[in-house]
Amino acid sequence: MPDREAAASIPFLPYGRQEIGDTDIKAVVEALVSGWLTTGPRVSQFEQAFAQHCGAAEGVAVNSGTAALHAAMRAIGVRTGDEVIVPALTFAASANAAIYEGATPVFADVEEDTLLIDPASVKQRISPRTRAIVAVDYAGQPADYDALRQIARSRGIRLIADSCHAPGAIYRDRKVGTLGDISCFSFHPVKHMTTCEGGMCTTDDAEMAAHMRRFRNHGIDSDHRSREAKGSYAYDMAELGYNYRLPDVQCALGMAQLPRLDGWVTTRQKIARFYDRAFARLPQVAPLYTHSDRSNAYHIYVVRLAASLDRDRVFAALRAEGIGANVHYAPVYSHSYYRARGYAPGLCPVAERTSKQILTLPMFPAMSEEDVSRVVDAVTRATA
Ligand SMILES: Cc1ncc(COP(=O)(O)O)c(C=O)c1O
Repeated sequence: MPDREAAASIPFLPYGRQEIGDTDIKAVVEALVSGWLTTGPRVSQFEQAFAQHCGAAEGVAVNSGTAALHAAMRAIGVRTGDEVIVPALTFAASANAAIYEGATPVFADVEEDTLLIDPASVKQRISPRTRAIVAVDYAGQPADYDALRQIARSRGIRLIADSCHAPGAIYRDRKVGTLGDISCFSFHPVKHMTTCEGGMCTTDDAEMAAHMRRFRNHGIDSDHRSREAKGSYAYDMAELGYNYRLPDVQCALGMAQLPRLDGWVTTRQKIARFYDRAFARLPQVAPLYTHSDRSNAYHIYVVRLAASLDRDRVFAALRAEGIGANVHYAPVYSHSYYRARGYAPGLCPVAERTSKQILTLPMFPAMSEEDVSRVVDAVTRATA
């Protein structure tokens, strides 16, 4: 392993990185001088383009993936006293959004081989208070939506797809973005495409889309542009909403990025195949399983280390070689905020056990073959 000084001179390979090119810069500059910085024509253009890309009827742009989840909770009618079932292994926002609306997250366990929400665990968690299930397309693979939809339909509850990891992925010939009653996306720089910060909800339900557009604008029934077009000043605030608007300048960036999304997903899949082949030779390192009826968009590339290895030691060894390994995630309920609310260890044994063995390795479209080989070599050394 290189010493500290040598390590400092090695370029750091982050676990994810955005791509910004000339077309992005041009689009942003055009928006900046267009006269519309926010709530202008680019918002609905981006919404339509993104929804069309997914095959959904409606897109609602918001200023983060978290805001998308919050808007989805409001649109499906999550209220104080409700329960929302969420996988234990996800980013905290998947669960936090339920709390924003006064509901209680109920954590479901994950499948051992994919770390996706386990439908059998979801079934066990359903109660008369369950209002919704949040499916998370962990790492980029769609959850088992047919099984989840069947559970949801039979109990009259809603299905929200937290697809922040999976734009461009496919489940049984159906595109991510059409798999839940509402699907939520993030355009944070580490995701597949970026608007700096940003997010989107997609749905086929026009009423829910209208509700989410109102919700992202303080609960007000019209926006500045539509009032200007009508020559009117009057508006009504029909419910308590938030300022979750995504500015025109950021929508311009989103529109410039969108045509490259599919190509980026293909490149991520190629990198994943390279990793898969290399790690097949390492008995101590197991990539997550991808089902043959799904395509994986690989937001992150996660491996599971043998229980005999010390994950934190491997992590430190990789970091010492300039490899930006990471961990996604500790179970959400292990965070102190959740512990203070009474969540205790033992709720989701698979998530708790596997979360101590997982490592996220660098994965972004601009990685060269040399970069990928460098990661493989470092993992080989660190796990020998
Ligand atoms: C699964 C998941 N859900 C929600 C979010 C929240 O997205 P944002 O950071 O855009 O608020 C993220 C972001 O990391 C995520 O990974």
